[in-house]
Amino acid sequence: MNIGIMGTGMVARAHAERLIETGHKVILGTRDPVQTLTRTEADFMGNPPFAVWQKLNPQARLGSFDKAASFGELLINATLGSGSLNALQLAGPENLAGKILVDVSNPLDFSGGSQPILFVSNTDSLGEQIQRFFPQAHVVKTLNTATAPIQVNPGLLADGDHHAFLCGNDVDAKFDVQRFLTDNYGWQHIADLGDISSARALEMMIPMWVRLFGAIGSPLFNFKVVGLKR
Ligand SMILES: NC(=O)c1ccc[n+]([C@@H]2O[C@H](COP(=O)([O-])OP(=O)(O)OC[C@H]3O[C@@H](n4cnc5c(N)ncnc54)[C@H](OP(=O)(O)O)[C@@H]3O)[C@@H](O)[C@H]2O)c1
Repeated sequence: MNIGIMGTGMVARAHAERLIETGHKVILGTRDPVQTLTRTEADFMGNPPFAVWQKLNPQARLGSFDKAASFGELLINATLGSGSLNALQLAGPENLAGKILVDVSNPLDFSGGSQPILFVSNTDSLGEQIQRFFPQAHVVKTLNTATAPIQVNPGLLADGDHHAFLCGNDVDAKFDVQRFLTDNYGWQHIADLGDISSARALEMMIPMWVRLFGAIGSPLFNFKVVGLKR
């Protein structure tokens, strides 16, 4: 399948690597491909500049958001939460129409320091904003509650005995995303939380995730809900 991944950060790269391994073709979308390729600095997490990563992953193509979105039969939003609506607008609403948009973004605001707050919460969410702004896309919010390496390889922890969550308005899209997560990444336990308004809950798990990260000292952990069948 052709997959358009919106983003060039560690999440986008993790999905691209795994999806190429599983036989898909991917284009990663960015605001300015030339500028992205000329970056020479590691990001604040220590991830190498995009060009260095791409040399190691030559099958991963880079393009504008618009190019990645028109290429993808399925799309993944892996952009900074505060830039997601802009990125998807640049991708072009017509390129999102009728497609599944897997949304892994989080509405984080780090302006107050290392403990982020959410710039939307309680009565709305970024997942809902994306669905409202792009009503013809089938937005499925998922995987935002796990770090990138676990998103694409749950087997890294406890033989995969922990949970992914998802929500969205389109039942068929959620079914397809569940299968996509299982077939490509190996997720065994996926809890469907209902319509896209459950993105509020999924995004409001992130302050808890950040505190756990501080307590554990590693991002390699995940949530497991006892009592759920899947
Ligand atoms: N890091 C994790 O393990 C993790 C786990 C769960 C969820 N998430 C969520 O996944 C998303 C991606 O995270 P990340 O760490 O890989 O990268 P990130 O640094 O949060 O996002 C990088 C991407 O966002 C784009 N971007 C930034 N500002 C923009 C703007 N104003 N307009 C359009 N695009 C903009 C960048 O575009 P350019 O390519 O043009 O620079 C880049 O492609 C985030 O929402 C994050 O909260 C991350």
